[in-house]
Amino acid sequence: MRQKNVGKLAENGWTALIVDPSSEVQSSMARQLEARGFRVAAALDSPEQMQGMMDAQTQTADLLVLHLGENGDSVVERIEKLASEQNTRVIVTAQEAEADLILRTLRAGASEFLVQPVSSEEFGAAVERVVRSMVPQQQAAGQVYAVYSPKGGLGSTTVAVNLACTLARKHKNDRVAVVDAVMHGGDINVFLDMNPRYTIADLLGKEDRLDTQLLEKVMSQHSTGVWVLAEPGHATDASTVSGDDMIRLIAQLRRAFDFVVIDCEHQLTSRTLGILESADKILLLTTLSVPAVRQLQRVLDTFAQIGLADAKTYLVVNRHQTSDVLQVRDVEKTFKRPVIWRLPNDYKAADDAITRGRPFAAATPRAKLSQSYERLAVTLNSPEKAGKRPQLGARMRRMLLKSKRR
Ligand SMILES: Nc1ncnc2c1ncn2[C@@H]1O[C@H](COP(=O)(O)OP(=O)(O)O)[C@@H](O)[C@H]1O
Ligand SMILES: [Mg+2]
Repeated sequence: MRQKNVGKLAENGWTALIVDPSSEVQSSMARQLEARGFRVAAALDSPEQMQGMMDAQTQTADLLVLHLGENGDSVVERIEKLASEQNTRVIVTAQEAEADLILRTLRAGASEFLVQPVSSEEFGAAVERVVRSMVPQQQAAGQVYAVYSPKGGLGSTTVAVNLACTLARKHKNDRVAVVDAVMHGGDINVFLDMNPRYTIADLLGKEDRLDTQLLEKVMSQHSTGVWVLAEPGHATDASTVSGDDMIRLIAQLRRAFDFVVIDCEHQLTSRTLGILESADKILLLTTLSVPAVRQLQRVLDTFAQIGLADAKTYLVVNRHQTSDVLQVRDVEKTFKRPVIWRLPNDYKAADDAITRGRPFAAATPRAKLSQSYERLAVTLNSPEKAGKRPQLGARMRRMLLKSKRR
């Protein structure tokens, strides 16, 4: 048995498995599949060897290229199982174009039936067809994080930019985007020291052509690897971006990227609501100051009124320091929800990063603040780690009421 581990990492994120008795055929198919971005997990001589392989990657290959030999019947059964239970695409090859066999394999769920010897053009065309049929499933994969704070100055842009940089650093093979949705006044360009030619406004009216290619033309890639979608610098362009535009745009971004982080406007405009609705997770930012927490109360009320799912709202405290008058536990008790993360206060790191146009998460990844972002990224992917909902806090309510009366 020849098990071939390809060092190069997949570009399309899919894994292929080849079963063919000829090592020449195996190598030629592997080359073609790799050229199309597949990772070839293994090349085996016979279907029997598949059973012996316990490697999870070969068990759950996205594409199986399988030569039908003597024991066609049991193989057809296996194709049926793979195609229906694991959604694996199967390209079958055989020595002869036997009508009955073709019919049975295709009914079992195989996508293609090719007669050997298979020319490289024929094989390439079959792979292309299969890839096209796979794309819609792959498309739903991207995670969309909306960063929202009810008022400016709490760190929304800092969190969006540094979270995106952290994700790009942690997930080297994933595509990460950051979107400046603070129309006419956003400052992601400043934070990243960029001057992009195109903005969100250049995508409007192009919904029917909105694919990865167009997105890459309009977005700019930062040295950290993060793709940046800038906001329209002009008020007139910005005012034409609607909530529906953002919803359509996010749907496409989700297909083109593994992670999309969006810096939202502070006003709950229809644009912002479109983003919050579309997002998988909302990072609701606050600081432990009375005005910020009071705003938070209003926002949570509004979220509840408009039916934004409570479960996708993650409360994050920024600029946390133990000397804060309000405590995290007060916030948790008052709002009956956990603070899923607290980012420590580090004015110098945060401000230097803006002045230099170099996000701290990329420039000083070992610093305490950057490390905290790293753990936030992990927590967002495993939210069950976040704490339980605590009891109502009378002390906190009194403080808020007092500040209201002033
Ligand atoms: N963890 C932090 N510690 C200290 N200061 C921070 C921190 N995060 C952000 N800041 C500072 O807060 C200010 C506002 O940040 P910014 O990201 O522009 O907020 P927003 O986009 O919500 O207006 C900036 O001066 C920034 O440097
Ligand atoms: Mg901002």
